[in-house]
Parts: sequence; C-alpha cells; structure tokens
Amino acid sequence: MLGTGLATGLKIPADSYSKESKPIILSTWNHGLRANEVAWDIIKKNGKAIDAVEAGVRETEADPKVSSVGLGGAPDRDGKVTLDACIMNELGDAGAVAFLQNILHPISLARKVMEDTPHVMLVGLGAEKFAYEKGFKKTELLTAKAKLAYEEWLKTSKYKPIINIENHDTIGQIALDKHQHFSGACTTSGLSYKMSGRVGDSPIIGAGLFVDPEYGAATATGLGEKVMKTLGSFLIVELMRQGASPQEACEEGIKRIMKQANNKLDFQIGYIAIDKNGHHGAAAVHKGFQYAITQEGVHELRDAKIMAG
Ligand code: GLY
Repeated sequence: MLGTGLATGLKIPADSYSKESKPIILSTWNHGLRANEVAWDIIKKNGKAIDAVEAGVRETEADPKVSSVGLGGAPDRDGKVTLDACIMNELGDAGAVAFLQNILHPISLARKVMEDTPHVMLVGLGAEKFAYEKGFKKTELLTAKAKLAYEEWLKTSKYKPIINIENHDTIGQIALDKHQHFSGACTTSGLSYKMSGRVGDSPIIGAGLFVDPEYGAATATGLGEKVMKTLGSFLIVELMRQGASPQEACEEGIKRIMKQANNKLDFQIGYIAIDKNGHHGAAAVHKGFQYAITQEGVHELRDAKIMAG
C-alpha cells in the first residue's frame, strides 16, 4: 500500500514504518526541558505516552516562573487567570478544557473529560464545576509577580502581543513510547491581557494539538488565532499521513500561515512534530523558537527552522 503523497509529491510505502522506533519526546520552548525529564522518567520504565505527557506538562503548569502556563500565568485584562488545555491518547481520543479558572492542572482535567465524560470539551464554569466533582482543589493562580505586572500594564492598557514574549509561551508536548504509541498534551494561560472569554488554539483539537494513532503527532505554540485559522496541527499530521516527513510537514504548516497572513508577519508561531519512525521536525515563523527533544535519555534544546526572511 502506498501513501498518496497528495500535498508533497512524496510516495512512501505505509508498511515501511519501523515497528521498533525508539521513543522520542518533543516539547515547545526551554521550559520543555524539565517537562521532558519528567515524561522520560515514565517512558524509560515502559510507561505509557499518555501518562508521560500529562505528567510532563503538569510540571510546567505548577511552575510559577513560567508566565504563560498555569500557576503564575498572566491574567486577562480583567485580572483573571484563565486556562486552556487539551490532551490526546494513542487511540486518538481527546479531551479539552477552556476558559477554566482556579484549577492548577487543566491538563489533568482535560484527561478526565476524555476518560470520564461522553464529551470532548468543557469550558468555563461547567469545566470548573466538573473539576470540583472530580476532587480538584480551588487554587489561586494569580501570583504576586503576575499581579504586579498586570497592575503595571493597566497604566497604559496597551494590547499588542509580542513575538516570542519572554521567549516562551504554551507548552505542547508530544511523545512516542516504547509500545509505539503516540500521545500529546498542550496547556496555556493564553495571551497576556487578552479579552475576557478569549480562547486560543491550545485546547482546540487539530489546532494546538493533533495525534493520529498510526502516523504521528504535532503541536503548536504562538499566536493562537493564526494557528486556528489553518488548523495547523491537524494539517501537519495529515501531511505526514500523506508521506511528508515531520520537518517538511512543519515547514508547510508555517508556510500556510504566512500565506494566510499575507506576509504581515508581526507574530510568532512554532510547530513541532514526530512520526512513527521516531523522526521529528520543527519550524517557526521567526528566530527565537526553541524546542526540547529527548532521545535515548538525552535531553537537548534545539532551534527550529526559521521560515521568514
Ligand atoms: N498559543 C496559545 C494561545 O494563543 O493562547
């Protein structure tokens, strides 16, 4: 059987995929290094990718130094920290939460949505109510540091997302385990000082994250509105399904966004992807996007290929 290679012209036999690919974990940004260490601790002991990615990004959610995810995340323009997250397992099952407040680990709540409800996504007060039903504790997520920065912002209230803000953003993590299973997780506090109720790409299946049980996984970071308009993670995995390498697929995903933006490139997007062979790819619009990669227990930070200029 041949992959059709519709978008890329590539033709590879679907059954040429290795049955014994080595595990690999990819995460967005430098905070991904710590998330990868945690995820690797699970995968190296024959653990499941779904448990690895949940545990990995929980580490980032609980880190008050990361100002774009979970605790310590920048609030919206009303001073509220609102969180978005989604998760997908090796079967392509999915769970998501959005516009969630007062819950430290949105990724674990997204997993509960996936496993314990007939739904894929819960938002706002409904998601928070479900969290308490499942035993999650109410937690203040606005740290003193984030509150001070917000009060400073209020003096001008200028809203302009900044490329590579503080060099980090959402954490997206994708993994292939020793059982040849993919999973992925994506979690964020979204854009600093966004409008109340704004939801970005991170909890949207196919935008911030997509996992195809047979072919691979991709996740996104950066200005979510741009990713949503091209359903970037789904696009990348679909291109891999049609025969593109993860690198080719990530580059095409970025090109699609640049075209859609008519080359007004005052934003950053980064994509990372892995395939069934344990190969990976990463691309971004601008310089500054790094990703963490773990193979054979070695954790490294690498620069993504830059597509603008
Ligand atoms: N990529 C995160 C967001 O736009 O909310």
